[in-house]
Amino acid sequence: MSASKRAGNEPIKIDLEKNKNYAWCSCGYSEDQPFCNGAHKNEGGVPMIFSVNEPKTVFLCTCKLTSTPPYCDGTHKN
Ligand code: FES
Repeated sequence: MSASKRAGNEPIKIDLEKNKNYAWCSCGYSEDQPFCNGAHKNEGGVPMIFSVNEPKTVFLCTCKLTSTPPYCDGTHKN
């Protein structure tokens, strides 16, 4: 994958629905953060498809530096 762009400096809180597929932007070029909007097609990245098996409120990474994608791990504070 090509280098990702930092899309934000803090995570975005999202209420996830059970068993729905989400596409987390990994390249950082999406204008629909933290989700993919297809911008990776010009940047060489791929979205991360994920789902949860119960409704959950989570913090999704926008800095793209997390070691636990798609979730924020606090790395954005560095
Ligand atoms: S927003 Fe990326 S680690 Fe927190």
